[in-house]
Amino acid sequence: MQQVRVGLIGCGSFARGMHVPNILKNPKLTLVATCDLDLQLASRVAQEVGARYATSDVAQLLGDPEIDAVFIVTRHDGHAPLSVQAARTGKHILCEKPMGLNRDECRQVAQAVREAGVVYTVGYNRGLSPLVLKAKEIMAAHPGKKMLYHRIQAPFPADSWTHDPAVGGGRFVGEGCHIFDLFCRLVDAPPVSVYAAGGTFLDPVRVHIPDSANVTIGFADGSVATTLIASDGCADFPKEATEVYWAGKAIYIDNFTTLSYHGVVDNGEGRIVLKAGDKGHRLEIDQFADAVLTGAPAPNGLVAAYRAALISYLVNESLASGQALTINPQDYQL
Ligand SMILES: NC(=O)c1ccc[n+]([C@@H]2O[C@H](COP(=O)([O-])OP(=O)(O)OC[C@H]3O[C@@H](n4cnc5c(N)ncnc54)[C@H](O)[C@@H]3O)[C@@H](O)[C@H]2O)c1
Repeated sequence: MQQVRVGLIGCGSFARGMHVPNILKNPKLTLVATCDLDLQLASRVAQEVGARYATSDVAQLLGDPEIDAVFIVTRHDGHAPLSVQAARTGKHILCEKPMGLNRDECRQVAQAVREAGVVYTVGYNRGLSPLVLKAKEIMAAHPGKKMLYHRIQAPFPADSWTHDPAVGGGRFVGEGCHIFDLFCRLVDAPPVSVYAAGGTFLDPVRVHIPDSANVTIGFADGSVATTLIASDGCADFPKEATEVYWAGKAIYIDNFTTLSYHGVVDNGEGRIVLKAGDKGHRLEIDQFADAVLTGAPAPNGLVAAYRAALISYLVNESLASGQALTINPQDYQL
């Protein structure tokens, strides 16, 4: 196989703004068909990119022997059922986060993927940001337990489908999983505890579940990571930042655009500035293509996918109970 022939399921704003342009730029991938419940939308995207056909029938796309892999970019309630369906037709899968809305959905995905022997990747792209990879390189040369902090803040719309537990799963399941995965990548030790404090900061008449929290994750090597997830934030302030402190050293990543490091013995201090923020989406689909074409390990395979998903469920459970909850590596082995 020279190129991975991709069928796109879900032609919404993220698919059109991110995955489609990145597929078009990557010679290892080719987009052959588009699928959306809205056939007009699927047809428009197919026409724009020169895909062979558009459909609103996912079975047509999954039954096409000339499609090797699907990108699942629907709302969250579609992720697990479509992943199971895709695996059963032998398609490799890149599924946007979250892996599923609950533990059962994730287990069903894992079972179907394992039985079919297909490649599975979930869209936790941030760990593949060039600046996060650079931070990991610096940290690898200076081992030791770490204190980490990540901010993710924005004025999140109160009427977003992501706040509907049945469709989106809420902010922590739907988006927080990105950050829980990022921490697991930056700390080379398993997560062992989760504690969350927060609540509903958006209009409680429209949002009926917690949307904001400070989440603290403990790791087996003693590292501690806290993320502030604020839904009622400020559009004029950078959305994200990552900080790491350990052994007299510090790393600061501002919105995946600038990295500065301090107190690092050999290199002293330094600063890397990208022309534009890069959250790792391009590398993610490139590594997915390599996994399909060469058998290289998939980025964010089943275990990593479930690890951050499980933390997200524990965040909601910790908010409900007020308790810190434990997590063991065997809990996310599926
Ligand atoms: N990784 C990231 O950085 C990132 C950022 C934003 C969004 N996302 C993810 O992208 C996904 C889509 O988000 P969005 O904002 O584009 O949503 P959206 O509502 O704009 O698009 C979803 C599309 O999926 C279609 N759809 C739903 N069910 C379908 C089905 N069964 N078959 C075919 N089409 C179906 C809908 O008609 C819609 O056009 C979500 O999973 C979201 O979490 C990821």
